[in-house]
Amino acid sequence: IPVSVKMRLGNEDMDLALDNALGVQEAGAAWLTVHGRTKRQGYRPPAYWDRIGAIRERVTLPVIANGEIWTLEDARRCQAESGCQDMMLGRGAVANPLLTREVAGGEPAGWPEVLAVLRDFGADIVGTGSEAQLCGRVKQWLSYSRRRWPEAGPLMESVKRETRLADLRAILGRDSGGNNAGQVVSF
Ligand SMILES: Cc1cc2nc3c(=O)[nH]c(=O)nc-3n(C[C@H](O)[C@H](O)[C@H](O)COP(=O)(O)O)c2cc1C
Repeated sequence: IPVSVKMRLGNEDMDLALDNALGVQEAGAAWLTVHGRTKRQGYRPPAYWDRIGAIRERVTLPVIANGEIWTLEDARRCQAESGCQDMMLGRGAVANPLLTREVAGGEPAGWPEVLAVLRDFGADIVGTGSEAQLCGRVKQWLSYSRRRWPEAGPLMESVKRETRLADLRAILGRDSGGNNAGQVVSF
C-alpha cells in the first residue's frame, strides 16, 4: 500500500522544509506533496512554487506541487517554477471542477457544464448529513465558484438563505446557466 505525505513549507518559517522532506523520503514515503506556504502564511497568495522546486532538486522521491493554482496559466507557471510535472489542485478544483481536464490538455469548461457538476453534487450528497451541513457544502462550493464564474454570484444570492437542500437544489435546477437550454435540469 503506497503511503504518501503532504506538508507545508513550514510552520512559522521555511527553514526546516528540506530537512522535513528528506525525513519523509527516508521514512519511505511513495511521494511527497508540498503546499508552497507556511502555516503562518495560511492561504495568502503567493504560493512559493520555487521553494517546492528547491526541495524537488534535493530528493529522489516524486514531488507534487500544490498551492494557488486556479487557471491553466497558473498550472503552467507552477510547473515551470517548481520543475514538478505533477500538481495537486485544492480550491482551484472547487472553483472549477473541470480544471484538471483543461490542465491535462482537454477543453476548457464553461459555466453550464460546471453548474451541471454542482447539481450532480447536490443530488449525490442527499442523506449524507444534516440539512445544515449539506446546504453548507453546496453554498461553499458555489461561493468558491464565484472566483471563476460571474454567473455563480447571482445564484449564490438566491440560495444563501436556504436551509433545506431540496429547496436549494430546486433553485440550482431552475437556473439555466444562460445557454444550456435543453439540458436536463431536474434530479
Ligand atoms: C475543500 C477542501 C478540503 C481540503 N481538505 C484537505 C485535507 O483533508 N487534507 C489536507 O492536507 N489538505 C486539505 N485541503 C488543503 C488543500 O489540499 C491544499 O493544500 C490547500 O487548499 C492549498 O492549495 P490551493 O491553494 O490550491 O487551495 C483542503 C482544501 C479544500 C479547499
